[in-house]
Amino acid sequence: MPTEPENAPSSSPSAAPGLGRRRALLAAGAVLAAGVGAAAGELAAGDGTSGRAAAPGAPPPEAPVPFHGARQSGVTAPQPPATKLLAFDLPPTSAAADREALRTLLATWTRTLAAATAGDGPSTDPRLRAAGTTRLTSLVGLGPGLAARLGLAVPAGLAELPPFPGDRLDPARSGGDLLLQLCAADHWTLAVVTELATTAARAAGATPRWSQSGFLPGTEPGATPRNLFGFKDGTANPDEDAARQWVWGPPGPHQDATVLVYRRIRMDTAAFAALPEEKQNLAMGRRAGDGAPLTGTAEHDEPDLYAKHPDGAYVIPAAAHVRLTGPRLDGGARMLRRGYSYDDAPGDRGLLFCAFMRDPGLFTRVQDRLAARDALNPFLEHTASAVAYVLPGAVEGTALGDHLWS
Ligand code: HEM
Repeated sequence: MPTEPENAPSSSPSAAPGLGRRRALLAAGAVLAAGVGAAAGELAAGDGTSGRAAAPGAPPPEAPVPFHGARQSGVTAPQPPATKLLAFDLPPTSAAADREALRTLLATWTRTLAAATAGDGPSTDPRLRAAGTTRLTSLVGLGPGLAARLGLAVPAGLAELPPFPGDRLDPARSGGDLLLQLCAADHWTLAVVTELATTAARAAGATPRWSQSGFLPGTEPGATPRNLFGFKDGTANPDEDAARQWVWGPPGPHQDATVLVYRRIRMDTAAFAALPEEKQNLAMGRRAGDGAPLTGTAEHDEPDLYAKHPDGAYVIPAAAHVRLTGPRLDGGARMLRRGYSYDDAPGDRGLLFCAFMRDPGLFTRVQDRLAARDALNPFLEHTASAVAYVLPGAVEGTALGDHLWS
C-alpha cells in the first residue's frame, strides 16, 4: 500500500493543532514509514508526550495520521481496520446558491475532520478525546452529477459507470452528490465523526443518501489484508511511480486528485468456501495461503501469464481473476485498490470494492472483461455503485476544494 509524504505535517509548530512539535514530527516520521502502525507505536512509546498513560504491558498508542497534506489521507495512509462510506445529495436550488452551499460544507468538513483527526485539540469533540488515538483518515469526493450541474472543473472522464451484465444495483445505495469515506481504528470513532459530518451536511442543505460500514481482519503492519474468500486482496497495487502515472491526475489542477470507483459486491462466501482449495486457487490465479501467483512462490512474484503446463493449458487459467484484471490488457494501466469487507445480514456479506484511478474508463474496461468471463462470477453480485472525484488534500490554512472556486 503506498504511503506518501504529502500528508506529513509541515514543520511549522502550528502544523498539527493540539500536537506538541515533537509529537507532530513523530507523526510525520510514522507516516513516512511504510508500516504506520508499528512505526508510530514504537515512536510514540518512547516519546512520553502523548498525554495518555499506557497501562503496563498495553500496546503503545499510535500517532494520528495528519489530516493536512497535498493529498487526502483516505487515499495515501495505510488502511485502518474500520471504514464508513457516507453519500449525500445537495438538492438543487440555483447554481449560485448550490456552489455557495458546497463551498461552505467543504470548509466546515475541513475544520471538522482536521479537529477529529488531531484527536486531542481544543476543538476536538470530547468523545473522540476519550476514545484514545483514533487513526482517523478521510477522503471527500464529488459525484459526476453535482460536478456537471455546478459546472465544476473536474477531470473530463468523470462520469457515472455504464451498466454491466449481471449488475443488480440498488439506486438507494448508489451514487450521490458528495462522498465521504472515513477510516479509523474502531467504529466508535466512525460513529462520532459520522454524526459531526452529517450535522454539517444538513446545515449546508445536503441530505444523507446512503451509508455503508466495512472492516478488515487484523493484519500485521505492512501485510496485505484478506477478503471474505480468504485471499490476500491488494497485493498487486501500484508503487509510487506507477501511481503518479495511473492513479493521480496529470500535472495541473488535478495532480493531487484522483477518482474513486466504489462497488458493493455481494459474495457467496459459503459456496466459495465449499470448493476444493485447488479450484479456489484456479479461479483466482493465486494461492489462498500465501497469495503467490500460481506461477510463483512468493506473494509479490509477478504472475507469468504465458506459462503453460506440458499439456498446453495455461497455469493461470483463461478465466482466472488475476489474468482478466492484469495491467497487460490495459496498456500497463493500474488502479489502487483499497477494499473493505462488509457483513450486513445473513446472505449479504462481501467486498466494498474501493479503487482509485486517474481515468474511471479503466474500471469500465476491466469490469467489461470480468462481467464476460471471470471465474468468480458465480459467487458475486454487484449491488451498488458510485463514482467520485476525490479532491486534492487541504494544506494547512486552506479548505478542501478551494481550487474549484479560483
Ligand atoms: C468480490 C469481488 C472481488 C474479489 C473477491 C477480488 C479479489 C482479488 C484478489 C484476491 C486479487 C489478487 C491479489 C491482489 O493483487 O490483490 C485481485 C486482483 C485484482 N483485482 Fe479483484 N476482486 C474482486 C473484484 C474486482 C473488480 C470488480 C475489479 C475491477 C473491475 C478488480 C480488479 C482487480 C485488479 C486490477 C487486480 C490486480 C491484478 C494484477 O495486477 O495482477 N477486482 N482481486
